[in-house]
Amino acid sequence: MLGYQHLYHAGNRADVHKHALLAWMLDYLTRKDKPLSYVETHAGRGLYDLDAPEARRTGEAAGGIDLAEARGWFAPDHPYARALAQIRAQHGPRAYPGSPALAAARLRPTDRMWLAEKHPAEHAALAAALGDRPGLRLTHGCGLQMARALCPPTLRRGLMLVDPSYEGAADYAAIPPFLARIHRVWPVAVLVLWYPLLHGAPHAPMLAGIRRTFPDALCHEVGFPPSRPGHRMTGSGMVVVNPPWGIESEAARLTGLFATL
Ligand SMILES: C[S@@+](CC[C@H](N)C(=O)[O-])C[C@H]1O[C@@H](n2cnc3c(N)ncnc32)[C@H](O)[C@@H]1O
Repeated sequence: MLGYQHLYHAGNRADVHKHALLAWMLDYLTRKDKPLSYVETHAGRGLYDLDAPEARRTGEAAGGIDLAEARGWFAPDHPYARALAQIRAQHGPRAYPGSPALAAARLRPTDRMWLAEKHPAEHAALAAALGDRPGLRLTHGCGLQMARALCPPTLRRGLMLVDPSYEGAADYAAIPPFLARIHRVWPVAVLVLWYPLLHGAPHAPMLAGIRRTFPDALCHEVGFPPSRPGHRMTGSGMVVVNPPWGIESEAARLTGLFATL
């Protein structure tokens, strides 16, 4: 089942939460010269046009990145703001970086990127957006399988983002054993999982399973009003195993900002 397409949701409130923390972590990790591995299991198309008909149909960016910028949430030297500025300079004022483009904006030529995307059209768009970047490997297929085969990567410093579309119960059930297995073989990796806060809390058993294995992981959630009446998503969550030092204060800052919505 591959019904989900992120271009309807790019730049929404959940993206602001996820991408602000991701950009912050990548900035932290690239302060040391030592190269690193960036692995992403559910990449999407990498680069979005907020003026595309799909994005305009939902209008979710208006209450997400557009509102955050109008309110000055991110100073120009914030890693998320720097990545946005870089992408807009290259692709126009309504371009919006998905997580692969955010990562590509921050990583150095010595770093390595592995990205997987299963949807054929999304994968083709991802290849067009990022395909010729040095050190990049794209997989058209299941990202969990890619990561199980790859890990641990040769460059041991690194971060993995797991950002499924949660289209069914199996998506939730697969995550706790997957993270436990990756951590066993790649214990130094920063493992990052995004999940939606939906009515009925379908994420709760998944989160309980993750907490049993990773009692020290950072779990950061922000709530927000639904983007339109009847929309099921009322917040965004991130689990970070091996959280980079100092991330708690950026997470607390975001908690305060989202509370104003
Ligand atoms: C939430 S979107 C990713 C958004 C992206 N990480 C970002 O922040 O810009 C989830 C993506 O996962 C893809 N997908 C679903 N199941 C997958 C799987 N098993 N392996 C790889 N990609 C998958 C979907 O086609 C969709 O493009």
